[in-house]
This record gives sequence, structure tokens and C-alpha cells, in this order.
Amino acid sequence: MTHVLVTGGAGYIGSHACKALKAAGYTPVTFDNLVTGWADAVKFGPFERGDLLDRTRLDEVFAKYQPVAVMHFAALSLVGESMEFPGKYWRNNVIGSLTLIEAAAAAGCKNFVFSSTCATYGDQDNVVLDEDCVQMPINSYGASKRAIEDILANFGESNGINHVIFRYFNVAGADPDAEVGEFHRPETHLIPLVLDAIDGKRAALTIFGTDYDTPDGTCVRDYVHVCDLVDAHVLGLKWLQDGKGNRVFNLGTGDGFSVREVVDACGIVTNREVPMDVGERRAGDATKLVSGSARAAKELGWAPDRSKMETMVVDAWRWHQNGHYEK
Ligand code: UFG
Repeated sequence: MTHVLVTGGAGYIGSHACKALKAAGYTPVTFDNLVTGWADAVKFGPFERGDLLDRTRLDEVFAKYQPVAVMHFAALSLVGESMEFPGKYWRNNVIGSLTLIEAAAAAGCKNFVFSSTCATYGDQDNVVLDEDCVQMPINSYGASKRAIEDILANFGESNGINHVIFRYFNVAGADPDAEVGEFHRPETHLIPLVLDAIDGKRAALTIFGTDYDTPDGTCVRDYVHVCDLVDAHVLGLKWLQDGKGNRVFNLGTGDGFSVREVVDACGIVTNREVPMDVGERRAGDATKLVSGSARAAKELGWAPDRSKMETMVVDAWRWHQNGHYEK
């Protein structure tokens, strides 16, 4: 069996990746501490509970499965929280990833697929955010991910860790079969919060700032369907197994949607009113993050076919109505 170690496999993106890996003939081994993940979401391969900061536990799991690769999703990933508690982000994300990379190197597991973020680019005006763009994060989350990219570059040179780094834009939607989906407690992401407001699980959606320098004053983001995103990871894994070398890829569509446009799309898909109010800007939010997205299409042959806003909201709404996890 060809095992792939999936850190964060009990989380939103990791669980979708496990489904895609299984469909591609791999056996995903989830490694997760269940701080933000859900045991219920582990459906496609074995589960090993553990923490990235626990080197002994990591060594045990590498020895048990001898994975051909690591897909590293496990991370704290909330921009707002990272501004309040930066130490949590540096310890968990950076020290945790360093521990994992060292364990992988010691186990001779040389292929590493890493979840980075467009938050490493920061807030840059009138710049196409392609992979060669300078990285100037404006929040601790983005800074922690950029640091891990640097660690991987070093380990690539000194320990032969082959790596593909994916810089995600805003991930949305859910598995169309609703076997897995987005389920955070507390929820902070825009689309699930809008859907909560639509079906009365929260009083209203608060728009964080309407005075940004964008056409309608709200932040603009590039949304990508989680199924398309994880398909790129399988392509990235094959890229590494084919010996094509270290590479960074953005994962976005190149289309920007404002917060108001996302809210409108949710209202149209569900045919419901969205209760809404306007609040202050959220610390750490960039004005506009839209991907220069040509590289993944050209080099990996990636085609983000499900990433139309309507499709993402339809899939998120189906999961929202039918799916949830319990610890
Ligand atoms: N927003 C609101 N109200 C809310 C929640 C969000 O107006 O109640 C706005 C945010 O201010 C932002 C947009 O909706 O402008 C999207 O916010 P999310 O919290 O859904 O996503 P983020 O852009 O903050 O962050 C997400 C991931 C990060 C990733 C980033 C890249 O959580 O891991 O996308 O843009 F780095």
C-alpha cells in the first residue's frame, strides 16, 4: 500500500484531501491532534492521533507506515486570532512544522506537499500576485507560513526534502457528496457564516469594513473550491514522485469577489434574505487578494472546474443543511 501521511487530515481541507488521495489509489494516514479537527471526518484511511510538537509520536507513525510523502495541512489558520495570539502561531505552525520536517527527513520520507497561503503576500496595491511576487505578510498567520516556506527551502538544499508549496487563496465549498465539509467551532469564515445567518443560526452577518479601496468598499478575495484545491495536491504529489523538483504554486482562480458579492451569491443560491450589518475592519485583513493563477494550470495541468462562485455556494449549502461532525 502506498501511504501518504496527511497532517490535519481531520480538518476541512485535509479531510477532502484524504478522499482525493484514496480515489487516486493512495492510503491517506491522518495525523491530527483534534484541536480544530474532528475524528468523524476521518473516513478514508487510518487515524493516528498526535501533535506536531511531539517528535516521538511522529517517529512512531513514520516507522509504522513508511509513507511515500507528507501532505502537511495541520496549522492554526485564523488571520484575526493570529494578530491577538502571535506566539500560538509561531509555536504551533513554525516549531510544529520544523519538528515534522525533521522527523520526515530522519525517516527518509523525502516528498513534502505544504499548505501555504496568499496571506504571505500581504497587502499589495495593483500587483498581480503571482508566485514570483515579493512576500510581505501583514499578519502573524502569513508570517508563520512564510517562515515554514523558508525552512523547506533550507531542508531542500541540505536534506534533499523535495517540496511542492501551494499558496492557497480563499478555500470554499464542500464535497458534492457531502461526506465531508467545512465545520469549524467557532466558525469565522465568510461563506459558512453567511449561511448561518440565512438559516437563523446567527442573528446576522457582520461585514468587516466597508471603507476599503475597492469598488463596493468591502474586501476582495479569490475563492477556490476545496475539491479543486485538493486535486491540485494529488497532482503536486505526482509531480514530486516524477522527480520534477521543488516548486511553488498559487491555488486560486484569478477572479476576485467582494464580501458583498459573496453575500449576494449566497442569497441568490438559497433564495433567502441575508440578515446583515456593518462593523469595523478586522485586524490583519488585506484589501484585495487575487491570484496570478497561470502556473498551476500550465505546469500541473490543474483545471479548477468547480470553482464558480455559484457552485461553491451550492455545495457549501448542501453540506450546511445535511452535514456536521461530533467529536
Ligand atoms: N468577513 C466578514 N465578516 C465575517 C467574516 C469574514 O466581512 O464575519 C470578511 C473578511 O473580513 C474577509 C473576507 O470576509 O475580507 C473573507 O474572510 P475569511 O475569514 O473567510 O477568510 P480570510 O480571507 O480571512 O482567510 C482565509 C483563510 C486563511 C487564508 C486566507 C487567504 O482563513 O487561512 O483566506 O485570503 F490565508
